[in-house]
Amino acid sequence: MDTTIILGIESSCDDTSVAVLSGNKILSNVVSSQLIHAKYGGVVPEIASRKHQEYIWSTVQEALISARVKLNQIDGIAVTKGPGLLGSLMVGVSFAKGLSLATSKPLLGVHHMKAHILAHFIKDANKTFPSFPFLCLTVSGGHTQVVLVKNPLEMKVIGKSIDDAAGEAFDKAAKMLGLPYPGGPLIDKLAKFGDAQKFVFSKPKIPELDYSFSGLKTSILYQLSKWSKENPNFIEENLNDLCASIQRTIVTILMEKCILAVKSTGINQFALAGGVSANSELRKTFIELMHKLGVSTYVPKFEYCTDNGAMIAMAGKFLFDAEIFENQQMSAQARLNF
Ligand code: KG4
Ligand code: ZN
Repeated sequence: MDTTIILGIESSCDDTSVAVLSGNKILSNVVSSQLIHAKYGGVVPEIASRKHQEYIWSTVQEALISARVKLNQIDGIAVTKGPGLLGSLMVGVSFAKGLSLATSKPLLGVHHMKAHILAHFIKDANKTFPSFPFLCLTVSGGHTQVVLVKNPLEMKVIGKSIDDAAGEAFDKAAKMLGLPYPGGPLIDKLAKFGDAQKFVFSKPKIPELDYSFSGLKTSILYQLSKWSKENPNFIEENLNDLCASIQRTIVTILMEKCILAVKSTGINQFALAGGVSANSELRKTFIELMHKLGVSTYVPKFEYCTDNGAMIAMAGKFLFDAEIFENQQMSAQARLNF
């Protein structure tokens, strides 16, 4: 039995998260969320970086204690090296480098978006793993991509958003509705009580497998201001229907390209990954549509949708097995290609 122990450290945005993985089994996964950003209506990079510094050591300690693992039992230290907010990434990367020096354990530099995808290989009694190659729709606050996953180390982005990410579309729409940040989960919640057919927003016409969400943002803004002029209480009176209609539009846009990706690649396994994959309407529609096409679907557990150390540890394990190690020259990279 593989009992390699990997410590996974995530600090790319506003969640400080640390996990301990043994083989492909998670022993602990601690997330310290920075709730302070809600009052600013979005993540303030300078504050995020300072909060990571404040939380990182206690989060590592908590993860080790709850996994009942001592620092000297760890075989490798995995950390997100990018993409993400530079100041936030630097905290995790510097910490991991220091820990690697102090413990003489190898350093593993993880690509955040690849880690979202590789979370599908965390052991779970109720789950079968996708086999290679498979397709993955990665939808987060910063990225929207259709990825062809050839193996754990080789992935190709075959479609992406040319402007805003799907998570950004959710969050910006929520802000226009007067909802606090991050608005995605709130839209999901309120949409359950609304009529998704009530309002129609414009959908983009983008070729091939690429996405665009900036037109939708403009369409929502324009229509909301028009309706609010006619009735100042319009948003308040129609909040649930607005949430349901906006959510329905975003999910429809996402699904159109997923169907196209299946048809153009002939691959019959499709996974979802990233924060927006927690969206209940997206999960349901994705499973239904793919089932009709005869495609097997892989939907992550809720705790592995939004940012977490577990996915970083899992991605680090694949690097460890392939003996792809970093040295003290490793740097945080706000932009990092696949
Ligand atoms: O992957 P993630 O935690 O961070 C990034 O790597 O960006 O994704 C965060 C994004 C946010 O935009 C948040 O609003 C969105 O995921 N999100 C959701 C839901 N849960 C999180 N969007 C829609 N419905 C949800 N249930
Ligand atoms: Zn993420």
